[in-house]
Amino acid sequence: MAEHKERWGSRVGLVLAMAGNAVGLGNFLRFPAQAVQNGGGAFIIPYLVSFLLMGIPLLWIEWAIGRHGGKYGHHSAPGMMDVIGKGNWWKYIGVFGIFTNLTVAAYYTYLESWTLAYVWHSITGAFSGMTSIEVANFFLEYVDAADGSWFNFPSSALFWFGITLALNLWILSRGLSKGVEIASKIGMPLLIMFGIFLAIRTLTLDAGEQGAVNDALVGLNFLWEPQFDSLTNPSVWMAAAGQIFFTLSVGMGSIHCYAAYVQENDDIALNAASAGWMNEFVEVILGGSIVVPIATAYLGLDWVQDNVGLAMGFRTMPTLFQNWGPFLAGVAGVAWFGLLFFAGITSSLAMGQPVMAFMQDEYKLSRGQSARMFGLFMLILSLWTVFFYGYGAFGEFDDWSGTFALVVFALFEAIAFAWVFGMEKGWAEITRGADIEVPYVFKYVIKYVTPLFLLVVFVGALIAPAGGDWSGALSGLFAGEGWNFSAGSIVGKLWHVGYADKRWFVDGSPTPVFIVDATRSLLLLVFVVIALAVRHAWKRNQHTY
Ligand code: TRP
Ligand code: TRP
Repeated sequence: MAEHKERWGSRVGLVLAMAGNAVGLGNFLRFPAQAVQNGGGAFIIPYLVSFLLMGIPLLWIEWAIGRHGGKYGHHSAPGMMDVIGKGNWWKYIGVFGIFTNLTVAAYYTYLESWTLAYVWHSITGAFSGMTSIEVANFFLEYVDAADGSWFNFPSSALFWFGITLALNLWILSRGLSKGVEIASKIGMPLLIMFGIFLAIRTLTLDAGEQGAVNDALVGLNFLWEPQFDSLTNPSVWMAAAGQIFFTLSVGMGSIHCYAAYVQENDDIALNAASAGWMNEFVEVILGGSIVVPIATAYLGLDWVQDNVGLAMGFRTMPTLFQNWGPFLAGVAGVAWFGLLFFAGITSSLAMGQPVMAFMQDEYKLSRGQSARMFGLFMLILSLWTVFFYGYGAFGEFDDWSGTFALVVFALFEAIAFAWVFGMEKGWAEITRGADIEVPYVFKYVIKYVTPLFLLVVFVGALIAPAGGDWSGALSGLFAGEGWNFSAGSIVGKLWHVGYADKRWFVDGSPTPVFIVDATRSLLLLVFVVIALAVRHAWKRNQHTY
C-alpha cells in the first residue's frame, strides 16, 4: 500500500526540519508576551518544569507514534492512532491531527504573510521618516480592524497572503526532501544568524546611547529574575504549559507526520531531544533577548508590561530600529522580519505536510493534486480569518484549534501510547535504534506524570475562574457562592462570558457574538467533514496490521 515512499534526505535535514517545525512565530512573539504577562521571572520555572515533564515526554511519544505509523504506510494521525489504539474509534481521535494542522495553518499563514510584507517594507525603507504613530497605524492596513466594521477587506494583506500561500504550496508540492528539507536547511541557519545579530545588537544597548533610556539588560533581568511567590499561582502554570505546547508544536499531529518518514530502526530518541532543545535555545535565549529588552531600553518596563503582545513585533519594532540610523534600521528590519518569516514558513510547511500526506496515503492523490486541494481548503479558511478578523474570527481559530485542541489530542495520545499500546511496547519503540540512553525514569514519567499533567491542564482550561484567582474561587465555592468562569475558560467561552450583548444581530448587522458562533460552527463543520473523509477512506482501503 505504501506508494508514497518519501524519505528524509539526511539526518541533519530531518533535525533542522523538526526544529523548523517547532521554532516559529511563537518563539519570538508569543513567548516574550506570555513571560511578561505572567510576571517575568515567575514564568520561567513553571515553563521549564512543563518542558521536562510534559514537553520532552510528548516529543518522544509523538516521534514514536509517527515512526511506528510510518512502518504501516501511514503518515498522518488517523492511521497512526488506528495502529496503536485498540478498537476502531481511535482513528477518529486521529482526526484532530488533520483538523488542527489545517485550521492552525489557516490563520498562521495569514500571520506569516505580514512578516513577508514587512521584509519588503524594510527593504524599501518604508518606515524611515514615519512617526511612531504612523508606524503603529500602518499595521492596521494588514488587519483592517481600524474602522470597527464586521467585514474587513485589507487589500495589501490579501496580496501578501496570496504570495505566502503560493510559496507554501510550491514548496510542499516539491516533496519532502526537495521541498521542506531544503527550505529548512536554508531557513534555519539564516534565522539563527539573524537572531544572534539582533540579540547582540540589543543587549549591548546602554542607557543614553542611541536614544535608549534604559540599559537593555533591565528587560533581560525582568525576564530572568526568579520570583518564587507566583509558583503557587495556577494561572501562571497554565500559561507556561500552554506555551510549551505551542512552541514545541506538540498535540498537533505534525511531529508524527515528519517522524513517519524516518526508517524503522533509525534513532528517534536523540533526534527528538535535539530538535526540542534547539527550540528551547531559540526561544529562551534568542526569543527572550530581542523584543522585551529592546522595548524596555527605549520605552521602559511599565510600557512593555502594558503593551506587550503579538502586535508589538509589527507596530513597535520598526520605530525602535530607527534609532540606529537609516542603514542599520533597514538591516535590522530585514533581519527581524526575515527571521520571523523563516520561523513562520518552516512551521506552516509542517502543518501542511500531514494534510497532504493524508490525501496522498488514503485517497491516492498525487503531490500536485494534494497541494491544490490543500490550497483550496486553506483559501476558504484563511479568508474567513481575514474578513472577520476584527470581530474575533482569528482569535477563535487560535483559541479552539491553536490552544484547546492541542491539549485534547495530547491527552488522548498519551493515554493511547502509555496505556492502550502499552508502556513496555512504547518504551521499546522510543529506545529502538536510540543514539542516547533515554533516562529510565522517563518510562514512569510518560506513564503516570505526563497524562496526569495533561489532565490537570485540560481541567484547568475547562473551568479557569475569573481573574485567574483559583484560591479565591475555591473559597467562594465552599462558601456557597458558586464559581465564576473566566471569559477565557472553555465553559466561559461557550457561555459567552464577557460579552455584554449576546444577540446575533443588532439593527440588521451581525455582532461579534454572531461571528464568534459562526466561526465555531465552521470549525466544527471542518472537523466533521474530516471525520467523514476518514470513515470513507477506511471503507475503501482495507487496513490490516
Ligand atoms: N511551534 C510553532 C511556533 O512556535 C507553532 C506551532 C504550533 C506549530 N503548532 C504547530 C508549527 C504545529 C508547526 C506544526 O510558532
Ligand atoms: N496569544 C498570543 C499573545 O497574546 C498571540 C498569539 C496567538 C501568537 N497566536 C500566535 C503569537 C501565534 C505568535 C504566533 O501574544
